[in-house]
Amino acid sequence: MRTPPPEPFDTVEIIHTKRDHRELTTQQINWLVEAYTRGYVADEQMSALTMAIFLNGMSRREIRDLTAAMIATGERMDYSALGKPTADKHSTGGVGDKITLPLMPLVATFGIAVPQLSGRGLGHTGGTLDKLESIPGWRATLSGSEMFAQLRDVGGVICAAGAELAPADKKLYALRDITGTVEAIPLIASSIMSKKIAEGTRALVLDVKFGSGAFLTDIARARELARTMVELGTDAGVATSALLTNMNVPLGLTIGNANEVRESVEVLAGGGPRDVRELTVALAREMLTMAGHPDVDVAAALDDGRAMDTWRRAIRAQGGDPDAPLPTAREQHPVTADRDGVLVAQEALPFGIAAWRLGAGRARKEDAVSHGAGIDLHAKPGDHVRAGQPLFTLHADDPARFARALEAVAGAWRIGDIGDPIVDGGPLVAERLGA
Ligand code: URA
Repeated sequence: MRTPPPEPFDTVEIIHTKRDHRELTTQQINWLVEAYTRGYVADEQMSALTMAIFLNGMSRREIRDLTAAMIATGERMDYSALGKPTADKHSTGGVGDKITLPLMPLVATFGIAVPQLSGRGLGHTGGTLDKLESIPGWRATLSGSEMFAQLRDVGGVICAAGAELAPADKKLYALRDITGTVEAIPLIASSIMSKKIAEGTRALVLDVKFGSGAFLTDIARARELARTMVELGTDAGVATSALLTNMNVPLGLTIGNANEVRESVEVLAGGGPRDVRELTVALAREMLTMAGHPDVDVAAALDDGRAMDTWRRAIRAQGGDPDAPLPTAREQHPVTADRDGVLVAQEALPFGIAAWRLGAGRARKEDAVSHGAGIDLHAKPGDHVRAGQPLFTLHADDPARFARALEAVAGAWRIGDIGDPIVDGGPLVAERLGA
C-alpha cells in the first residue's frame, strides 16, 4: 500500500533533473530511496530515473548518497563485540568462480572474522550458496545470533543475506533486471557496496572481473567500477581494495556446484588447479593486509591443513557433513580432441551457459538447481592434447540437456598448432586498486 512521503519532493522533477544532466541533492536522494522502498514512488518512475542514471551517470557525491540511503532502508550489522578484525570479499561473478569456498576458511585461520553473506546463482554465473548446498545437511540460512556465534567460535561463516540487509537494493535490482539498467556503474557500485557496508565488515577486497565470462567484459569499465567501489568503501570508513581479474577463461577445472566444492576442497588440501590457488592466495593476502596482518605466510595454511580444519568446522557448524559423498549427475557426455595439437581457446561465457543449460544454474529465482550437473574440464588453454583425449565432460541428470549444452560451446574451444597464440587474455590478476 502507498504511504505518504516523509518529505515533499516531486518525483517527476527528480527525473527531469537527472534527465537534464544535473545533480540530485542529498535530500532528494534520501527521500527518493525511502519513498521507493515504501511504495510511494512507482516502479515506472524509478525505471525512468534508473535509465537517466544509466545514460547520464552520477557524481561521486551522488553515488555516496545513494549508497547511504540504500543502507538506511535496512539493518546495519555490527561485529565489534567479537573483539577481532573483520574482512570480507566480493566478486562480481564469473564462470567457475568458487573462490569464496577456500578463501573464507583460509583467512579465518589467521584470526580474522569473515562474515561472508552470499547469494544464489541467476543466469550463467553460479551462486556460492548453490554450490555449498551440494554438501549433505548444509544450511544456508542462519539467524543473526547463529552467525555471530559461528564467527566467534569458528572464525568464518558463509550464509544467505537476510531480507533486512539494504531492502531498497532488492527492489531496485529486480527493477533494473527487467528494464535494461543493470550495467550502470553508479547503480552496480551502490548496489554491491550498500550490502557490504551494511554487513559490517571493516575491511573489504573486491574481485572485479573483466573478460568474456564477466559481467563487464571491457577492462576499462571494470576498472571504473572498481575505482567507484573502492571510493565508496573508503568514504564509509571500510579499508577497501580491488583486484581486476581475468575472466576470459573459466576459473579452475570445474563449472557447476558439487564439482566446484570438490575442487575447493582440493585447494584446501594444498593442491587444486594453479589458477584457483593463485587467486585464493592473492585475495587472502589482500584481506589480511587490509585487516592489518600484511606479513603472514598465507599459502602455508593451505599446505599444512590449517585452512582445511577451519573449513570442516565451518561446514559442521552449519549442519553439513564434510566427509559425505557429494552428489553426482546420472549421465555423462565426454568431448574429445579431434586432432593432436595445443588447446588455444576455451571461452568462459559459452562454458558458463552450457553448465547452466545442463541444470547447474537457474533461469528463474524459484527454479531448483541440479547439484551434480556441470562441466569438468580436462585441459586448459596452452595444454598439449592428443587426438581422442577427453577435453571436457558434461554432466546432467537428463541426457536430453546435452544437445543444447554442446550448441553453447560449439566454436568456444579450439585446438591449434604449437606456437599459435593462446587466447586467454593475459595474467589472472591484471591490476590492483586501493590504498
Ligand atoms: N551484483 C549486485 O549485487 N548488484 C548489481 O547491481 C550487480 C551485481
